[in-house]
Amino acid sequence: MIIDDVIKFNIGQETQVEPINIKGVDTCLYINEFWTSRQRMSNNLHELAYRACFKAELPKFFITRLTKEGDTIYDPFAGRGTTIVEAALLGRRVVSNDINPLSKILCAPRLDIPTIEDIEKRLEYILSNYSGVADIDLSMFYHKDTLKEILSIREYLKTKIDSDNVDNWIRMLVTNRLTGHSAGFLSVYSLPPNQAVTPERQIKINEKLNQTPNYKNTFDIVIKKSKQLMAKLTEVDYNNLSLSNSVFLTEDAANTSEIESNSVSLTVTSPPFLSVVDYKADNWLRCWFNHIDIDKINISSISNVNSWSDYMAKVFVELYRITKSGGHVAFEVGEVDNKKIKLEDYVVPIAVDAGFKCLGVIINSQTFTKTSNIWGIKNNSKGTNTNRIILVEK
Ligand SMILES: C[S@@+](CC[C@H](N)C(=O)[O-])C[C@H]1O[C@@H](n2cnc3c(N)ncnc32)[C@H](O)[C@@H]1O
Repeated sequence: MIIDDVIKFNIGQETQVEPINIKGVDTCLYINEFWTSRQRMSNNLHELAYRACFKAELPKFFITRLTKEGDTIYDPFAGRGTTIVEAALLGRRVVSNDINPLSKILCAPRLDIPTIEDIEKRLEYILSNYSGVADIDLSMFYHKDTLKEILSIREYLKTKIDSDNVDNWIRMLVTNRLTGHSAGFLSVYSLPPNQAVTPERQIKINEKLNQTPNYKNTFDIVIKKSKQLMAKLTEVDYNNLSLSNSVFLTEDAANTSEIESNSVSLTVTSPPFLSVVDYKADNWLRCWFNHIDIDKINISSISNVNSWSDYMAKVFVELYRITKSGGHVAFEVGEVDNKKIKLEDYVVPIAVDAGFKCLGVIINSQTFTKTSNIWGIKNNSKGTNTNRIILVEK
């Protein structure tokens, strides 16, 4: 595989190529609109909010160019599972890993989709047969009757880990709908769903907006969102989505002995970027619903770039072990510390030390004119999203 094959499929204008030396490694920056960041291009099945998730077009770009059906695609920091769901839709085998068990809860059910009718029946059964007790005060988020419904579902699901695809789907959906900032969420108006605020902060939001939680119908909200997620699925998609072609792990990304050596064709991933996102704080309510003790999970939140690099060096040794000869890793690097730190300066030498060959740094941007502007483009400004990906080969 040569880089030309990857970059020639750009959309519209010619790719800008800039030779660059990163700490002794000669490579190139490739700049273009390789994948479009226009909204709603990808399958609705991806539309579950998660902090720092990437758009499905990013993994799709690499999966379609670097692998074929039946190959194994991996994401060591899977999050909501954008790489995993896209790879499955494209008929690839998938290996998913994330140290937070929430990742599997949000991702695996979309590979084994139940019917709307079965979801409706199960919800009716749960809501009329179960009840739960609130172990914390959540009255600032929910109307008492909505909370009663959430607690019934939480109590029912407590003993139903991996029981069937209907339970798993309901668990994913309620987890996703717990808090948010529109009518489609179970809570009163709050921050977006991937950032649950503390009860104290919610009390302040309620005071400021002069609001009290109104009744939200859990059944209706779950069914409506289920229909939205399934809306664009074709028969081919349903045939491709398969749990039997997938493995879900809950390990530290540097230590994944369950994955066979030389077995993965392509990894597409975005790591936790230093301590930019506080996954523990953002996910506390989702973890509560799922009886996950977030304090017992060692989610990486490393604020020092040298310690972060030491950790990523271990991850790359592991990625090298599991990658097939000729296989690839597409690793997103973000700008951190107010753009003063470019993580490719750290990750490229790490990947090369682990044994990989660096094919380039691929910069996806819709609005570039000169390289100097690339570093100034803000994510999501003007509806665009600039991603920087290090592409390496074993
Ligand atoms: C940037 S997010 C990935 C988002 C993903 N690309 C998506 O589209 O949803 C990084 C993920 O790394 C996970 N994580 C943090 N430390 C980890 C570790 N040591 N090993 C495995 N996963 C980890 C976090 O739980 C989080 O889900």
